[in-house]
Amino acid sequence: MNKVKVKANANIALVKYWGKKDETLIIPYNGSISLTLKEFYTITEVEKINEDHDQFYLDGSLQDEKETKRISNFIDLFRQKSNNNQKVRIFSKNYFPTAAGLASSASGYAALAGALNSLYELKLSKKDLSKMARKGSGSASRSIFGGLVEWVAGEDDDSSYAKKIDDASWDIGMIAVILNDKKKQVSSRYGMSQTVKTCPFYKDWVESTKDDLLHMKDAIKNIDLRKIGEIAESSALKMHATMMATKPPVIYFEEKTISVIKLVAQMREEGILAYFTMDAGPNVKIITNSKYKDIIIKRLTEIVSKDHIIYSEVGNDLEILEEN
Ligand code: PMV
Repeated sequence: MNKVKVKANANIALVKYWGKKDETLIIPYNGSISLTLKEFYTITEVEKINEDHDQFYLDGSLQDEKETKRISNFIDLFRQKSNNNQKVRIFSKNYFPTAAGLASSASGYAALAGALNSLYELKLSKKDLSKMARKGSGSASRSIFGGLVEWVAGEDDDSSYAKKIDDASWDIGMIAVILNDKKKQVSSRYGMSQTVKTCPFYKDWVESTKDDLLHMKDAIKNIDLRKIGEIAESSALKMHATMMATKPPVIYFEEKTISVIKLVAQMREEGILAYFTMDAGPNVKIITNSKYKDIIIKRLTEIVSKDHIIYSEVGNDLEILEEN
């Protein structure tokens, strides 16, 4: 194998992951559950080269030494497994409809892990691939799979992996509301590390997530979208509460974030199925379905321009597009 092209979709957590008990292996304190999104994805092409360094192109531009080193360290994990030291050239492109503003590390590392698995002919199962992707970025472990996915926290490298819990072939979707498309000021890596160290109620967050996971799995089994939304909203708010109680505080909210959140609550009062979630940034994602999406989008345009509002249906598993 000389060249491989792989596609992986982004995912948004409904029960959030925030905090690592092992920062090198990326073992989280708590499990999480996410929805894979069809409209946001990364396509990554990797080919073998006869050079002494890897080359990494992201969205068309050659990355500097620091970025390339980070990716090379990740590739080394695959090289060690296959006893093959060959360097590679990577072309990775994020297909996010509007200037991002959404995390691309999940789909990025998942796509790269999938490509390296083929290129170095490791034949890893999807479960083992999710463990490898996890070491690039925790949330990437979940992007190996489509539908609704659980990342089982585990205790060590072998027991911390993601698995599909439901195809979600029923009517569920997400509206991404892009309020700020600039690179975030505080990385999730740094933010969660500080939270674990300094938030006085971090332990309570970890404890309360256990119930959220149980109830979320029940709600998914019952295809109870309102319950799914309720738990997701609460999980996101609890996570942001731990961030705010961190020293120094980690605050991702902006003025418009609050406006969108208030509008979601108001729409719900009117009987519209809409629940929000947020990650390590000011953008809001709204859990809904095809029946309500148009009315929600229309109402959101009171606050945000239409090209910054994107509805996505459920995405599939990681996909190999080409192998040569
Ligand atoms: O693994 P990272 O660095 O992409 O962390 C993701 C953290 C959140 O997006 C805030 C929550 C989550 O579970 O995806």
